Amino acid sequence: MKRSLQRINEQYIATETDPWGIDWRGTMAIRNRFYERMVAEAIGGLEPRPAELRILDVGCGSGLLSEQLRSSISEGNTIDRYLAVDVSESAIARARSLHPQSVIEYRVIDEDLTELSGEEFDLILGFEFLPYHSHEERCALFHQLKRFCHDGTRLVLSSNVRFGESDDVYVAVDQLAAEMTPCFDCLLTRDLFLSTYIDKFECHLLTWQHQRLVGGLVRWLLARRTPPACACRVVQSLAGPRWPRHRNRTFILK
Ligand SMILES: C[S@@+](CC[C@H](N)C(=O)[O-])C[C@H]1O[C@@H](n2cnc3c(N)ncnc32)[C@H](O)[C@@H]1O
Repeated sequence: MKRSLQRINEQYIATETDPWGIDWRGTMAIRNRFYERMVAEAIGGLEPRPAELRILDVGCGSGLLSEQLRSSISEGNTIDRYLAVDVSESAIARARSLHPQSVIEYRVIDEDLTELSGEEFDLILGFEFLPYHSHEERCALFHQLKRFCHDGTRLVLSSNVRFGESDDVYVAVDQLAAEMTPCFDCLLTRDLFLSTYIDKFECHLLTWQHQRLVGGLVRWLLARRTPPACACRVVQSLAGPRWPRHRNRTFILK
């Protein structure tokens, strides 16, 4: 893995939930809602639709997004198994302590996922773990993920992407597409202009919630699990043109 596992563990230990403030509302709620919709779209495309879904969630972190997804998926579907894995034992310990009653099976896993060999899933989810890996590692991971698929399996994967060179946070978009191609057909991609905006917009929101004039409105906004559609549109239209070369891209693959 490109990033140090020790450092990832330390980052989880140093924060109350996770290093990305994924429990924050506002822009993260927009992101999570966007993923919910992408997952619903992928499930809608399952042909035939399994009576009970077997789901693998790779790089689940502290499980905040996983819990939200499990709950929204279970509204129209029966889940046989929801397995959420992460390379970081601190992340998994955090997930278990944050969600003690959870029906999600949280598990620490080696980064190459070979421990799961022989397992099969109907839906594979992976949000923002791809940039942790080098080109070679991602190619190997795609081949490994392919082994968990049957003919109808759908994958929903997201990554920070950049129209240019890869760096530690962003993966060059052409490179990522080329890495997936030998293993999967891409059915759909959708972009969210969000990741570079989080620090700026979210930090402002968190500060503004204590202000006398706008505090009430901001607190109401932050408390909403599902952000208003207009808030999503405003964030998209502000962030997109400012960072035209940086996006968060979600792929539905089969
Ligand atoms: C940025 S966090 C995203 C957490 C969560 N998916 C979300 O979007 O809210 C990425 C997580 O992926 C984990 N990770 C990276 N590579 C992985 C791999 N090959 N297998 C399992 N977990 C991995 C990291 O430890 C980290 O917790």
